[in-house]
Amino acid sequence: MEVVILPGSRQVGVLAADAIEALLRRKPHAVLGLATGASPLPIYDELARRYVEGRIDFSQARGFGLDEYVGLEEGHPQSYREVIRREFADRVNIAAENVHSPDGAAADIPAACDAYEEAINTAGGVDLQLLGVGTDGHIGFNEPGSSLASRTRIKTLIEQTRRDNARFFKSVRDVPHHAITQGLGTILDARHVILVATGAQKAQSVRDLVEGPVAAICPASVLQLHPHVTTIVDEAAASSLRLADYYRHTYDNKPKWQGL
Ligand code: GLP
Repeated sequence: MEVVILPGSRQVGVLAADAIEALLRRKPHAVLGLATGASPLPIYDELARRYVEGRIDFSQARGFGLDEYVGLEEGHPQSYREVIRREFADRVNIAAENVHSPDGAAADIPAACDAYEEAINTAGGVDLQLLGVGTDGHIGFNEPGSSLASRTRIKTLIEQTRRDNARFFKSVRDVPHHAITQGLGTILDARHVILVATGAQKAQSVRDLVEGPVAAICPASVLQLHPHVTTIVDEAAASSLRLADYYRHTYDNKPKWQGL
C-alpha cells in the first residue's frame, strides 16, 4: 500500500483528482467508484473546478456509488444517491443515467444487491474506487466484523457510525439503522483504490488500516490484500503512523513515471 502524507484536505483532493484526470485521459469510459461522507468532498470540488476549466471530460465515464441508507424516502437530501448527484454528478458532464447507486428503497433487498453486483460486472468492473474511512475503520458501510469476502448486501449500522453521521441529520434518531453497501470483496475487485482520510479523529483508523493486522475488527485493513491501494492522508490523520517518515521519504523520492 502506498501512503501519501500531505499538509491538508485541499492537497488531498488535488492529488486524488490528478489520478482521476489521468485515468480519464487514458480511458475516457472508465468506471469510477464514488464515495460519500465529508472526506471525498474536496475531490469533487477539485473535479468540478477542472471540468469548468475544460481540463477533464466525464462524457463517457460511468459511476457506481459505494453504499446507500435503507429506508430514506426517495429524494431525501441525505440519501447517498442525492449526495453524489449534488456534490459530483450535477457539477460535471457525467450522464445522469451512467451514475448508479444501490436501491435503498427496494422491496426485495437481496435481489437489489445481486442486481447491483451484476451491473458493476456488466460495466466491466470499477477502475478507480474512492473511499473514506469511518472512525471505527469501516469502508462503505462495512462495519467492524464484516466478512472480508463480503459482496453487496444489507448491514446494520453500529451506534458509533450512527452518532458520527448524525451531523448530517436533524438528530441521531433520524439516522437509519440499515444500509446497503458494496462488500469488502466487491471493493477488492476494483483495479485501483484511493482511500482519503483527514483530521485527527481518523488517526487511529488510519494506523489500524495501514499498519495493523488484517482483521474484521478494522474492515479497511482488508485493503492490505489489494495490489494497488493509495492512501492519501493529511498530517493530522497520519499522526499515529509508525512508519510516517518512511512513507514521506518514499513519496518524495518516487520515480515520476510511476504515477499514483
Ligand atoms: C460514512 C460512509 C463512508 C464514509 C464514512 C466516513 O458512514 N458510509 O463511506 O467513508 O462515513 O465519513 P466522513 O468522511 O464524513 O468522515
